[in-house]
Amino acid sequence: MWRCGLGIEFPICSTVPGIKTVNKKLTFKYFNYKWGRVPTWARATDHIYEQWYLTRYGYKNHAGLKKFLKDKKSILEAGCGVGRDAKMFAEANPDARIVGVDQSEEALRIAKKSLKTFPGWSELRADITTFKTKEKFDFISCDQVVHHTPNPGKTLSNLGGKLNPGGILNFSVCRKKNEYRDLVDDLIMLKARDMKPEDLWEFSRVVTEFAKALYELDIKPVKFKGRKYESLQRFVHNQVFRAWYDPKIAFELSVSSNYDWFSSNPRFTATEVKTDSGSGYDRVWSVHHINPLCSQ
Ligand SMILES: C[S@@+](CC[C@H](N)C(=O)[O-])C[C@H]1O[C@@H](n2cnc3c(N)ncnc32)[C@H](O)[C@@H]1O
Repeated sequence: MWRCGLGIEFPICSTVPGIKTVNKKLTFKYFNYKWGRVPTWARATDHIYEQWYLTRYGYKNHAGLKKFLKDKKSILEAGCGVGRDAKMFAEANPDARIVGVDQSEEALRIAKKSLKTFPGWSELRADITTFKTKEKFDFISCDQVVHHTPNPGKTLSNLGGKLNPGGILNFSVCRKKNEYRDLVDDLIMLKARDMKPEDLWEFSRVVTEFAKALYELDIKPVKFKGRKYESLQRFVHNQVFRAWYDPKIAFELSVSSNYDWFSSNPRFTATEVKTDSGSGYDRVWSVHHINPLCSQ
């Protein structure tokens, strides 16, 4: 156990350096609340997130993804949420069998509805760190989920073990911003652990109002330490604390994005995921076709 200056105690877990623990039950509860709160989330932001996914993993566009998935007969989306990526995979290869796994009943209910026209689709409510299947997959996608799991190394090993020979696993975790922002966010996350989901939602709304007000000041660009930020809001979001606002999407979706972040307990960074994964990580890493570490 490690006690910080504020008197808060942190169990030191596994090989992860530092002070982070992820309470799985809380993560499940918060995500389930989010998916129930913004059921249209995936549909309303499809175009933004799809392009983000395609760019991040090097497919560039839908044609590139289609080419990649052409010979992938079995696909697993681990932590599929409402199945946005699964739907994109199904559209790119309608003949594939696609399994979506998530712990959130709410999310899977929405995913099932959204993928009902794809005969190869099925969903499974399970914990991606521990779930077992006899089936192996040609392609596994686990986008923005590994760092939410209490033991990233175990999660990656479990997923890596479900690949067919030559199979590919795509995953990404969030990059650190800077020490100051990370510390502020970690403190907010620690407080968030004691909040009911609905109270955290209201807190996230206030943060989003603040971010919107910053955006509307129309101060741009902001230059700081050789970097240029497109607005004062983006500067604060990147350098001070998580305060996301995107005028291109419904206000409630920006709230959902901030809520998602704050509710995650102190989350693991890319380096911590790598350290925690040890040799299991190397095995998974070696089948990875592109650098998965992203910035959000
Ligand atoms: C940030 S969302 C990402 C959803 C989806 N991959 C996407 O990009 O839209 C994280 C998802 O992972 C799920 N999740 C978190 N930890 C999980 C676990 N241990 N097992 C299964 N699902 C989990 C949450 O319920 C949530 O739907």
